[in-house]
Amino acid sequence: MLILSEETQTVNSFAMDVRNGLGQTGQKELPSKYLYDDVGSALFEAITRLPEYGLTRAEERILREHSDDIAEHLVAHGMVVELGSGSGRKTRQILEALAHHKSMTYCPIEISSAALVRCERELDDLAHVSILGFETEYLDGLSKAVARRKPGDAVVVLFLGSSIGNFDRGSAEELLHKIRHAIEPGDMLLLGTDLEKPLTQLIPAYDDALGVTGAFNRNLLARINRELGGDFELSRFEHVALYNARERRVEMHLRSMETQTVNIEEANFTFLCDETIWTESCHKYGKNEPPEIARRTGFECNAQWVDVEWQFAENLFVAV
Ligand SMILES: C[S@@+](CC[C@H](N)C(=O)[O-])C[C@H]1O[C@@H](n2cnc3c(N)ncnc32)[C@H](O)[C@@H]1O
Repeated sequence: MLILSEETQTVNSFAMDVRNGLGQTGQKELPSKYLYDDVGSALFEAITRLPEYGLTRAEERILREHSDDIAEHLVAHGMVVELGSGSGRKTRQILEALAHHKSMTYCPIEISSAALVRCERELDDLAHVSILGFETEYLDGLSKAVARRKPGDAVVVLFLGSSIGNFDRGSAEELLHKIRHAIEPGDMLLLGTDLEKPLTQLIPAYDDALGVTGAFNRNLLARINRELGGDFELSRFEHVALYNARERRVEMHLRSMETQTVNIEEANFTFLCDETIWTESCHKYGKNEPPEIARRTGFECNAQWVDVEWQFAENLFVAV
């Protein structure tokens, strides 16, 4: 019998997703979750501090300015599960407000071991909060975490940073449906959604002057070289951020600057000059969309807080 360790399975599925994504006819693509290895997570953390990337600061402002109101809505909840916690910097505000009222378990779910370690370090000084992290995918982590809920504990799921925007609209609703099925009526979901805004504000957030987002994007090719034995020449690929108006999303691509062939172990992939690899989507929402999405996915949107400086909405969904 072949027994695969989690690590072997992860490397195998990365290799398979890369082979499928680069080998398909038409638009080549790679799943955005692979942007977050140790280097990618560090670069993402740097992105959140760039002047162009207003998204994180907007959500921080909402969580700071409305912390009492948010905590009042969440007060009865004894378990907080965060999907894709990243460094957990923003979460501190929520946990501090909640831990005033009662002790709780906080479960960060992360695909990136580096982000998980950083998150645990960031939050381990909080009184009355015990941390139990899961290095795995969103839904797998959520089901593992809620299986440990104590009798009488209600669960609040945090999905911050507009990570929901990385899914196309249909898949986002499917994911929310599955989240709803993993929790109980009365449990809550605090969902961050970045809103539509002028392109002069939006595009630089994904194509900053320092080139950090470009490095974050190209690190995916470096990761393929490191982990899968690829021979991508990074200087032959250019970072591109564009707005797809029909889908209302920013797309990140890597554009091949010449016709070239790349080897990844025994497989060869040819890139034509100007052909791109699509690496990430960030869908943008209208302010009224989250309540409608809530209704379609088994929730009710009980509250919404909006940052006016950088249009961003924090939505409180209650499972019905
Ligand atoms: C856009 S970042 C947001 C981080 C943080 N929540 C914030 O608001 O700044 C997405 C985070 O989710 C993690 N992630 C991405 N895809 C994931 C998946 N399928 N399962 C678990 N974590 C994932 C990444 O490692 C990353 O830390």
